[in-house]
Parts: sequence; C-alpha cells; structure tokens
Amino acid sequence: MGKQWWKDSVVYQIYPRSFNDSNGDGIGDIKGITEKLDYLKELGIDVVWLSPVYQSPNDDNGYDISNYREIMDEFGTMKDWEEMLDGMHKRGIRLVMDLVVNHSSDEHAWFAESRKSKDNPYRDYYIWRPGVDGHEPNNWGSIFGGSAWQYDETTEEYYLHLFSKKQPDLNWENPTLREEVYELMSFWLDKGVDGFRMDVINFISKEPGLPDAEVTSPDKYQWGGDYFVNGPKFFEYMKDMNERVLSQYGAMTVGEMPLATPEDGVKYTDEKDGIVSMLFQFEHMDVTSGPGGKWDQQPWKLTDLKKIISKWQTELHGRGWNSLYMENHDQPRSVSVFGDDQSYRVESAKMLAAWLHLLQGTPYIYQGQELGMTNVYFDSIEEYKDIETLNMYKEEVEEKGREHEEILQAIHKKGRDNARTPMQWTDEQHAGFTSGTPWIKLNPNYTEVNAKKALSDENSTFYFYKELIRLRKEHDIIVHGDYKLLLEDNEQLYVYTRSYKDQTLIVAANFSGENVTHELDESLQGGNLLIKNYESTSDKLEQTSTMRPYEVKAYLI
Ligand code: GLC
Ligand code: CA
Repeated sequence: MGKQWWKDSVVYQIYPRSFNDSNGDGIGDIKGITEKLDYLKELGIDVVWLSPVYQSPNDDNGYDISNYREIMDEFGTMKDWEEMLDGMHKRGIRLVMDLVVNHSSDEHAWFAESRKSKDNPYRDYYIWRPGVDGHEPNNWGSIFGGSAWQYDETTEEYYLHLFSKKQPDLNWENPTLREEVYELMSFWLDKGVDGFRMDVINFISKEPGLPDAEVTSPDKYQWGGDYFVNGPKFFEYMKDMNERVLSQYGAMTVGEMPLATPEDGVKYTDEKDGIVSMLFQFEHMDVTSGPGGKWDQQPWKLTDLKKIISKWQTELHGRGWNSLYMENHDQPRSVSVFGDDQSYRVESAKMLAAWLHLLQGTPYIYQGQELGMTNVYFDSIEEYKDIETLNMYKEEVEEKGREHEEILQAIHKKGRDNARTPMQWTDEQHAGFTSGTPWIKLNPNYTEVNAKKALSDENSTFYFYKELIRLRKEHDIIVHGDYKLLLEDNEQLYVYTRSYKDQTLIVAANFSGENVTHELDESLQGGNLLIKNYESTSDKLEQTSTMRPYEVKAYLI
C-alpha cells in the first residue's frame, strides 16, 4: 500500500449507538457492526471511522471516556471488537478509531484520584484552579452551556471543562499525562487500528494563566477560544506525538479542528512538517449560522459556500490535504440543509454527493447519508437525548424564558440528534435497527427511506455513492486535479473544473429547485459523461444547457 493511502480512500463514519443492534436492548453495538460489514463492502468504502466505543458513562454518548482501554459494556467485549476488526481487514477495510484526549470522563480513575487531594500524584492530570473572590477562576463558558468551571468541594477548587461538567479537560502541560496518551495510542495501534480521528484536538493547549475572555455577549459566561483554540503549544505537542508514536505506524490521522483557517490547514497537514494527515474544518458548516451562532440558523447563500470551499480547495492544493464532509454525528442531515428533503430528496442527495466527492480531498460518508436520510422533526423536547440540545433548551426556555416553539425549531434545524436517529435498514418494525425499544426514536420516514429498498433499486442514492467511490479509483484526476470555480456569482449553480495532465473534469451542480440555463466557455465542450442524476442527460457537454432541479452532471474532457 502507498504511503498516503488515505488520499484515494473514502471513509464511512459509524456512530455505533445508532448503527445496528444485535441483541435487542435497543442500543447499537459492535456485533451489530460486524453483521453489516458486507453492506459496507458492497458500498465500496475503504476506511471506517468508528465513533467512541470505549467505556463511558455516556454523558455525551461515549465522548466522555472512563477507560481508554476497555470496550463499553453496552457495545460488547474486546473479543467482539477484535472480531469486528478482523472482519474489516479481511474485506480490505481499514479502521480509524476516535481519540478523545482533550478531556476524559469525570468517572475515569485518573480523575477520581485527581479530585482527592491537592498533592495526589494525579492532581496535575487535570486543570485545577482556586476560585477568585468566591467566583470561577475566569469567565469562560462551556460549549455545552454554563460556566467552563466546576467547583469541587473536597479540595475547594475548580476544574476546567470546556464541554460538560462530566468531561474534565486533561492537562497537556503535564509530561506524564502526555506519556499516558502516547501509551494508550500505541495500545490500539498495536492491536491493529489504522489511525485516529482526533476529537477537538486543537483545544489541547491552553494559554498559561487562563486569562479572562473578552466580553462579546450579554451572557454571564464568554467564549474563551482565543486562549485555547490552536493554543501556544498545540503544534509542539502534536509534533512530539507524531515522532514518538504515529510515525512508527504510518497511521492516518484526521484532526477535528473548529475555527481552523486554510492557513492553519496548510501548516497542520503539510506532508513533511505537518501534524495530521488531514483535518475537519468547520467553515462550510457554519455558512448557515447567523450572528447568534449555531442555534441561529439563517437562509444561506450559495456564493458564500463557493467562497469558503474555493478558498480551501485552492490554498491546500499541492500543499496540504483536506477531508470532504457535509455530515457527521454533530451535524444535521445535509439533504435537509443544502438540498430539498421533500420534493427532491433523491435528486438533491445525489447532487450533494457528486458535488462533494469530485472535489479534492478525502470524502467522508456518515451512516445513512448514502440513503439520503433526512432530519427528524420530533414535536416534544422529551424525544431528544443529546446533552448539548437539552442543556441549551433548559438555558433558553427555562432560564431565559424564550418561547418553546422557537427553540424547538432551532433544534429541528441544527440539533445533533438529527444525525443520531437509528440507521434505517428495512421498512419493518424499528427499521430493522433493533428488535427491542430503540434508545432514541426513529425517523418515521424509514418506510420509504431504507437500505433494503435502496439495495433493490439500481437508481438509488446508495448505488450513486458506490459509483462515485468506483470513479475515484479509476480516475487520478479526482484525487490529484487542481480546482477552478466557474460562474462565480451564480446563486443557483455550482460549477467547477479539475485539471490534471491533459484532462479536464467539469462538475455542474444545481443547488436550486428551479430550471437554470447557463453558458460555458467554448473550450469546455464535448467530452464524456461521467455521472448524472437525471435519466436523460446529454452524453456530450454542450456549451449552453439547462440544469433541472438539483441536477448534477460531470464530464471528462
Ligand atoms: C467533538 C465531538 C462531539 C463531542 C465533543 C466533545 O466535537 O464530535 O460529538 O460532543 O467533541 O467531545
Ligand atoms: Ca445492543
């Protein structure tokens, strides 16, 4: 295998709790994944990114780890996990595990020790500070609401938690803690995993002194990101981790990096001097956010999306490497946000797929995306399970007195549970996900949208994804070509070219529900049709053409 095998790979993300339940307890599990490996093989993906399966009290569904070397009871045993890995490798599928080391669970043995006394050997595994005049050590807010500090009575100090209070931040300043992380990484690499997806990895280095954040909102607590996003020692820590651990294995790494810019991207993914194989940036996901942030969803403009994507495509070309994603377990379903999940569900799901997969980078498919799964619209807050959503609801409705309806609508648009409803396998009870009671309600459209139906329909989104994955293996231009945006100001059509050697690939995507006529340069004509989402599509590229609602087509000239 080539050194950078991830460049021509396609990754499939599994959120285990919602993927497939093998024992009827309503919770997806590892055996359930093993049962579906042939399904993944059929789709043709190369790599699985598995969201956390480690022991966890599930305050944040496994992103709060209480033992990094054990499998969560609800998900099965280490033997199940080994069988799953074996099954993957036998099918030529690689496995990337989630590495959550910005924080652990407060139920981790390290934290149980750490909170016991100020001179406990584990004290400095976490970030403890005394209060200031009876208040928190600084004004930082937690990403999941409230203060980022929790008072602990035993030692009368506060600990830092950028996420929930059950997710205390690890202290990367402490070399012993860094050693522990390296060791647990080696533990999994020695077991045969092929890489890591690194959870909020660019938050690990905090500015010494932990200064107060600038006051930018009327809230009590403020966004302290200036003092921990891409912090002062982040690069150094990661360099060390690469030298000490990752370089020994040739592992693939993808760093989740909120607020990363293309300049950061170039630096972090540089082939020689970088720290990760690729990153998850968020800029394109935030194109729908208004001034109030993620819960303030606004109509978005295609020209804004073009600017963001084009900037990343151009700046990283030949200098770094990026991931391509429109969905994951933290984001709503892309067809509901960027397509039309009612009248043109299949067309728009395919359009988004081709538009994304033909850009430069490593594409990620989130479970169910290959079926065109959609957002869910639960009508009661009781149906929601996600800690972020529930904390936000409580704060906004119960504490600030905002309207239930308004907040529920924000949740419909952006809540993380949109992506966490169970995978839709069949049109039978609970979509074939479980024989018991699912831990979270299903999207009622499973009778229409499900894998069984998709597999029996050659025009399904499933087979469209399969074709895109196949094309990547066949055409180097998809992996290596450089990118150029056409029709820059058009608010409905996204048209771009890729060029490599003497070839040009042109991709035209209609992001609107209308017919749109456009004209191309004379040099862009003829060629051969590579992929399309409407039955009758001209075999040759024409200079003037009318794109139908959510139509996509790509030609190789
Ligand atoms: C990442 C994960 C998200 C989790 C958070 C805290 O953003 O993707 O699911 O809640 O980190 O670990
Ligand atoms: Ca189960």
